Amino acid sequence: MRLYKITLPEILIIAIFMAISVYPVLAGETDAAEINKAVAVLHPTQANNVKGTVYFSRTKNGVNVEADITGLSAGKHGFHIHEFGACTAPDGTSAGGHFNPENQPHAGPDQAKRHVGDLGNIEADNSGNAHYERMDTQLKFDGRDSIIGRGVIVHAGEDDLVSQPSGNAGARVACGVIGVAKN
Ligand code: CU
Ligand code: ZN
Repeated sequence: MRLYKITLPEILIIAIFMAISVYPVLAGETDAAEINKAVAVLHPTQANNVKGTVYFSRTKNGVNVEADITGLSAGKHGFHIHEFGACTAPDGTSAGGHFNPENQPHAGPDQAKRHVGDLGNIEADNSGNAHYERMDTQLKFDGRDSIIGRGVIVHAGEDDLVSQPSGNAGARVACGVIGVAKN
């Protein structure tokens, strides 16, 4: 039986092809599986009328958060990602506390040491509408700090960005779950 002999140039070509095919996986560039956009649709908790949509989009500078909320009282309202994507309780308490995988204190969104879920406040106009847009460097779509599947809560009152453990923002007026969106 005569065996085919592989020459050195052939080995090199095979090695190069293998390296090229494996590189995207090693570099985390598994495009089909990568999440680049997420969305939460907010529904009113019992006896409230607050609704809205929150988009999270991966950019090279971080995750851009863009929200449009209606049915609010005029002024500031605490706006956070909570630990659980569970809006089952009529008052939204099933969403748990602020999403805090790094075990940090509650703070404002621009503080380095904060809950990952600390997005500060949204501010409604006299018609009860609020628009929020902010680039964030702590939100992630993968790993321990991934926000996928967590909850988004809007509060009746203002987050003072200082009080522990949640900024004294009062009752929960809307709740939503962060899901994977089509990019
Ligand atoms: Cu909250
Ligand atoms: Zn917090």
